[in-house]
Amino acid sequence: MKTLLTTSLKPFHTFGIDVDAKQIIEAHCAEDFLSVWRDYADEPKLILGEGSNLLFCQSYDGVVVLNRLKGIDVDETATAWRLHVAGGENWHELVRWTVEQNMPGLENLALIPGLVGSAPIQNIGAYGVELNERCEYVDVLMLETGDVVRMSADECEFGYRDSVFKGRLKDKAIIVAVGLLLPKVWVPVIGYGALSELSEQSELTALDVFNKVCDIRNEKLPNPAVIGNAGSFFKNPVVSKSQADALAVQHDKMPRFAVSDDHVKLAAGWLIDQCGLKGFRVGGAAVHDKQALVLTNLENASAEDVVALAKHVVDTVESKFGVSLEHEVRFMGAHAETTLEAVCQH
Ligand code: FAD
Ligand code: EPU
Repeated sequence: MKTLLTTSLKPFHTFGIDVDAKQIIEAHCAEDFLSVWRDYADEPKLILGEGSNLLFCQSYDGVVVLNRLKGIDVDETATAWRLHVAGGENWHELVRWTVEQNMPGLENLALIPGLVGSAPIQNIGAYGVELNERCEYVDVLMLETGDVVRMSADECEFGYRDSVFKGRLKDKAIIVAVGLLLPKVWVPVIGYGALSELSEQSELTALDVFNKVCDIRNEKLPNPAVIGNAGSFFKNPVVSKSQADALAVQHDKMPRFAVSDDHVKLAAGWLIDQCGLKGFRVGGAAVHDKQALVLTNLENASAEDVVALAKHVVDTVESKFGVSLEHEVRFMGAHAETTLEAVCQH
């Protein structure tokens, strides 16, 4: 366990908002987390991976604990590679390493920022693959008992950008390791968007898919090291089929993806784009000009700028399409998680 001298959160989240915590502590083993929970029992506490899915709405009046659990074990069976990965490993470096080691299966999830221990929380997904399709188990440290418990993928209740860790186990469990199962028989997933260009290619490898995913992402998504952001700011909204059908009458090019017989997922980026909001600014915050679903810290944005921009986007999409956008990015208040709606009421 290491208490940092700095209290600035700016280097520890990808939006680049200038906020502080009362204290920042690195946890290098499960016992470190328990010590912090014991020593700072009366303080608010927040576990941080790389802060790539967070907006600090103001300074955090509590202790931020950085996940620094390290280690990767591989068990090769006749049919699969089974990986046990500590929660503090970097996700993209893990993906790159597996592809280099000829253990395919994670390549579609390349370049997603953040740590392995954060990946199950919103069940990260991209380019036709979600974590739950490769996840065998998640090891969690239960804060009430101090026990490490192994949860099967089924028990994690994974959904679209959702899991039990955002619901019943929120603030109760710390993810300390993730078990991944990568079958040796590789089935490339190249149906999503520009990835389908790879279907022309003979002798396709996981490295080809990895490189293509990186190319597409680098073209559309701002690099947080250069322009602060937290990826897609909103989730893609799921609406009734009848609402989608009614919208399609006026907007015949509207992208839509059936999620069940009577529900359809719409593309939030398309809806925002159609409102003419690409490049729209509030103070130093802006809608990204290449991907309207991403809000950016273009020029020393304050949290208030980002919140006001997000509110404007939600209101504009609601009034043009009658569709409510829900933020994917987790909003942090001074003591606890909050929401755009709650922040705007104050
Ligand atoms: P953080 O932002 O640090 O934490 C997220 C939440 O989880 C917080 O509430 C935190 O308290 C909690 N938490 C963190 N670690 C633990 C733990 N070990 N145990 C319990 N709780 C914990 N996401 C996608 O799904 N697909 C994408 O394609 C994608 N692209 C992105 C592109 C960019 C440019 C950016 C900036 C983000 C993108 N994201 C994407 C979002 C983000 O990368 C993921 O949500 C990622 O898993 C967050 O990891 P993190 O370590 O940064 O988590
Ligand atoms: N679109 C536009 N204009 C835009 C943005 C998108 O017209 O400004 C259209 C695209 O042309 C496409 C559709 O909207 O027809 C979907 O766009 P895209 O393929 O870029 O994906 P997305 O729905 O915007 C989702 C995830 C991303 C993930 C990509 C690739 C969510 C909320 N976002 O974005 O995840 O990387 O698909 O699978 O589900 C994240 O969660 O942070 C994230 C980046």
